[in-house]
Amino acid sequence: MSRVPLRPEPVGQEFVGLKSPPDWVQVFGGSTGPLELEIGCGAGGFAVEYARRNPAVRYVAFEWRKKYAREVAFRAMKHGVTNLRVIEGDAKVEVPRLFTKGQLACVHLQFPDPWWKRAHQKRAILTPQFTPVLFDLIAPGGTFELRTDVEDRALQMLAALEKAGFVNPQGKGTFHPRPIDDVPSTRERRYLVTGEPVFRARLQRP
Ligand SMILES: C[S@@+](CC[C@H](N)C(=O)[O-])C[C@H]1O[C@@H](n2cnc3c(N)ncnc32)[C@H](O)[C@@H]1O
Repeated sequence: MSRVPLRPEPVGQEFVGLKSPPDWVQVFGGSTGPLELEIGCGAGGFAVEYARRNPAVRYVAFEWRKKYAREVAFRAMKHGVTNLRVIEGDAKVEVPRLFTKGQLACVHLQFPDPWWKRAHQKRAILTPQFTPVLFDLIAPGGTFELRTDVEDRALQMLAALEKAGFVNPQGKGTFHPRPIDDVPSTRERRYLVTGEPVFRARLQRP
């Protein structure tokens, strides 16, 4: 991806700065399938393949790095994946305005930046302010899918999600193994080769 030139056209800007949520049925051409959100899709290895394999899903992927966001949108178009919208922007700013309470079937968060420096930790996705926002946007019975390669962040995020009200069907503080047919994210592909551990959890809003 680093050798890919920056595509000139921003993507998903029609969704940025809206005062109220768009009509997602109309956005996805009349589809009423499960609405799923990914925060920080990076190079989009998961987003494009997951949307392709699940054509009924309406998939919204946020990525604030222009180069990635534009390339993911381009790849989706190139492969005829029409149920994916990529939004180039800050998910923490835009997401609360884009969805109504209980509208999301699933939120995917994969390998979020660990933000090691204390001063940067406010940039984390699962902050005490933003985690309850995500909880409210997910429908009862809906899921939060988490993956990370950083064990202490994995434990912290799991605790934050459980504190917000999500239930872990595996048991509190427990991760689950990789389902054999799971779609790997771009970053995860390298761990499948090296065998490094990935901590994954699928929590449910009761
Ligand atoms: C470590 S990368 C992982 C990318 C991808 N999920 C994967 O597994 O390959 C984290 C990504 O989240 C993006 N990101 C972090 N905070 C964000 C935010 N508030 N809004 C949108 N994207 C964000 C970063 O730009 C980066 O591409």
